[in-house]
Amino acid sequence: IRCQSTGTDEPKTKMNLFDNASNLLTNLLSGGKIGSMPIAEGAVTDLFDRPLFFSLYDWFLKYGSVYKLAFGPKAFVVVSDPIVARHILRENAFSYDKGVLAEILEPIMGKGLIPADLDTWKQRRRVIAPGFHSSYLEAMAKVFTECADRTMLKFDKLIEQEESGGGKLIELDLETEFSNLALDIIGLGVFNYDFGSITKESPVIKAVYGTLFEAEHRSTFYIPYWNIPLARWLVPRQRKFQMDLKVINDCLDGLIQNAKETRQETDVEKLQQRDYLNLKDASLLRFLVDMRGVDVDDRQLRDDLMTMLIAGHETTAAVLTWAVFLLAQHPVKMKKAQSEIDAVLGQGRMTFESLKKLEYLRLIVVESLRLYPQPPLLIRRSLTSDILPGGYNGDKNGYEIPAGTDVFLSVYNLHRSPYFWDKPNEFEPERFLVQKESQGIEGWAGFDPSRSPGALYPNEIISDFAFLPFGGGPRKCVGDQFALMESTIALAMLLQKFDVELKGSPEDVELVTGATIHTKTGLWCKLKKRSNV
Ligand code: HEM
Repeated sequence: IRCQSTGTDEPKTKMNLFDNASNLLTNLLSGGKIGSMPIAEGAVTDLFDRPLFFSLYDWFLKYGSVYKLAFGPKAFVVVSDPIVARHILRENAFSYDKGVLAEILEPIMGKGLIPADLDTWKQRRRVIAPGFHSSYLEAMAKVFTECADRTMLKFDKLIEQEESGGGKLIELDLETEFSNLALDIIGLGVFNYDFGSITKESPVIKAVYGTLFEAEHRSTFYIPYWNIPLARWLVPRQRKFQMDLKVINDCLDGLIQNAKETRQETDVEKLQQRDYLNLKDASLLRFLVDMRGVDVDDRQLRDDLMTMLIAGHETTAAVLTWAVFLLAQHPVKMKKAQSEIDAVLGQGRMTFESLKKLEYLRLIVVESLRLYPQPPLLIRRSLTSDILPGGYNGDKNGYEIPAGTDVFLSVYNLHRSPYFWDKPNEFEPERFLVQKESQGIEGWAGFDPSRSPGALYPNEIISDFAFLPFGGGPRKCVGDQFALMESTIALAMLLQKFDVELKGSPEDVELVTGATIHTKTGLWCKLKKRSNV
């Protein structure tokens, strides 16, 4: 899986009929004010032949770190620049909303944090963020370990069956296994519900996957036909989607009802001081329901839970998938990770404390997120007119954009930018250990771990917005530490027990994208018990 550089930095001047028409329309729509920005010229087929973010990368190398992409009557500003990203995500964050993303997700997540309007978001973020406090995360480390145990046990059993038939290894799709693991974890962590998807199938699990599938379909389908009156009842896939939503909503409503009936109201500080490791229900739902002074209606709670279910499931499964994909192609790094695990854990169990000692493994997780960011694009729409900084290689005066401009912030481009990373397409977890000067790039502060003291994982602050695996600014991912710990623990437990190889060649692993980057037909691997266990 490689992207091609198209070479020159010169904006092309030749245009085809389609581009002329669309640029005319775009300029009319935008009042002509973003005309000074380089304009990407691409065939419409580029948008459908392969994942969009590949084309955005090629155009980034050709047109620079801020350019305009026009297709049909629509225009987008594509940003691949840390200085401009910092401006949009942090410095001027409230001048943007989620635009087209909110339109797609609102029917599923309602007023959950991701698509919520600003007023709802402010209220709910203030309530939800304190729920991810350190005792909660420590209790979650136990949940992660217990769920990953079930996965490892399943692999053990499959290998035993194989051995009784004379075989030594099993072949299985690890992407599916990670997806089941992440679903079980998010269910227990967010609303204390055990999907048990590692070992069984159920109508609720099927409904969750159906809903995720639809969310993905919507994020890659450019015409929102589902908003057409009656479409939800007349189009079979939309009817199925409504049925899936009802199954999940009924399940969540039952859990909310249950939590409310056993409500023990108290202050946030007291909630955070509960003995989390021994709580029967350490979930976020419990925290949200018990919080004093916040009488939230059931509908809002359901939207919050649904949002976290979707935001926290596929993303983490994808990190694990690509971490294994990368490690399998780098056996020396795989061995180095296993040596670290052996030294820290031996044959013992993974704990919250051991996580702190697994430095190399933590770097593997973030390096996988660098190469395969989830999602690869952040989407925004400007609420007012704004002046974007020109970025490191754009117009020094910046670019004026009118209200209503759709912006794609390409995390994929930022993470693979040759201007900020050495050998950007190579898997090199060690790169995060090296401090990096700003290389004379005006307005960018370089990499400096001292900017985020005590952080276990590199982040957007350390990299001054060149590394954005969880976004940045006020709308940064609320579950970042949850997700990083979950991925590190699951990966550690897999490598502690098993040697993993790809079943075919890396080129066979075709990549598709919706909200996350995933494989077309699964990550088929060979799993063998390690000889020392
Ligand atoms: C937001 C990535 C796991 C809940 C985000 C954003 C990113 C992201 C990039 C910012 C989106 C934007 O600015 O448009 C990831 C990745 C994950 C992960 C890569 C796994 C490796 C989780 C988990 C949860 C979660 C486990 C919950 C338990 C959320 C929520 C938001 C969010 C609620 C919206 C925050 C807001 O707007 O205030 N995530 N996420 N995420 N994420 Fe995550």
